[in-house]
Amino acid sequence: LKIVSVVGARPNFMKIAPFIRAVEDWNKNDGVRIDHRLVHTGQHYDDNMSRAFFEALVIPEADINLGIGSGTHAEQVGQTMIAFEKVVRQFQPDWIVVVGDVNATCACSITAKKERVRLAHIEAGLRSGDMDMPEEINRLVTDRLSDLLFTPDRLSNDNLRREGVSEERIKFVGNIMIDTLEVQREKAKILSVAEIVSGNLKEGQDSKMNVLRGEKYSLLTLHRPSNVDDPQTFGEIVDLLTNELARDMPLLWTIHPRTEKQLKTFGLWIKVVSVDNVLALNPLGYHELLRLNMGATVVLTDSGGLQEECCVLGTPCLTLRRNTERPVTLQEHGGASILVGNDRDQIRRAYYKILQGGRTPSRPELWDGRTAPRIVEALVQKSSLG
Ligand code: UD1
Repeated sequence: LKIVSVVGARPNFMKIAPFIRAVEDWNKNDGVRIDHRLVHTGQHYDDNMSRAFFEALVIPEADINLGIGSGTHAEQVGQTMIAFEKVVRQFQPDWIVVVGDVNATCACSITAKKERVRLAHIEAGLRSGDMDMPEEINRLVTDRLSDLLFTPDRLSNDNLRREGVSEERIKFVGNIMIDTLEVQREKAKILSVAEIVSGNLKEGQDSKMNVLRGEKYSLLTLHRPSNVDDPQTFGEIVDLLTNELARDMPLLWTIHPRTEKQLKTFGLWIKVVSVDNVLALNPLGYHELLRLNMGATVVLTDSGGLQEECCVLGTPCLTLRRNTERPVTLQEHGGASILVGNDRDQIRRAYYKILQGGRTPSRPELWDGRTAPRIVEALVQKSSLG
């Protein structure tokens, strides 16, 4: 059985690692052998956005790297399709497996179906309902084309049914990212917060280490275009964070490359690096971010993956978005996060409210660390049924 799986950007790596491990485990048994190839589209290419994750999560080097890199969405998707088509024609897989909702996911899904190869989507059925999000377009296209849709929760099953996806194509398997969290959490736990911070501070901030003396800190990540691409919106968020919220406790901000670029373009960088209680950090490795999350008093983020990790770890989480494709992580579904959008007053109110609650870990159904083996088994079974 020939399978090609695809990764492109940072959030894909923690989803593919357990899948590859489950394929290797499957091949230890007698029976159908899986011939697997990993393709990296190259959408993320900085060492700390890509290679570091392969090393930390022990992902074997990609068999092929398409080297696509940054660009407009059309450039990324178009160039990925052209390059991936050649790989598909050469290897002629039985299945193409894509994960998540980045441009690499969408591009390779379209190519797969045009080449008449069966397509499986891991993390299917998530819907934010927000067509301004490039990821929502990627999810809709990928799910519409997929032959097998592996869903992380029951709400996603409902979304797919509403769109008319037939029952035999939907497989509720749980959240594959939690497989990675469970395998890696002990390794993260023993890391020192102070060492992670001092080893990853942006230049010229060494003197800030002394603000980290207490137990408490908040943890921030931002990268969505809706938060960082408009100078006024982003300016107000930065103002609130640096002038108000960081007064309460040190704010650890791990800064995505596009966010750093925007901070500098909008003249906001100086604000961030000049406030004592704001510690600007490089993008962190998997274990490092997990460790900071485990110890954080509160997380502020617009990342979907972090929202899910907060849910399982129980870290109070403010999601700086107006909507989410991951409602099971919200407090009203038993999770740890509150949606706060990007309005200053709303963020401030929710911040002080959430600080009054404690850590309440919650585990949605089948977020049990065994999602990847369920996926591999379903793929093999579906293949033998023709
Ligand atoms: C992509 C995904 C998003 C995901 C995020 C996680 C899409 C549409 N978006 O957004 O869903 O949450 O990854 O990081 O696929 N850059 C670098 N080095 C890199 C990669 C990017 O400097 O290794 C900079 C470049 O300036 C680039 C910008 O970041 O133009 C944006 O990168 P891109 O891959 O287009 O999207 P992300 O914002 O990372």
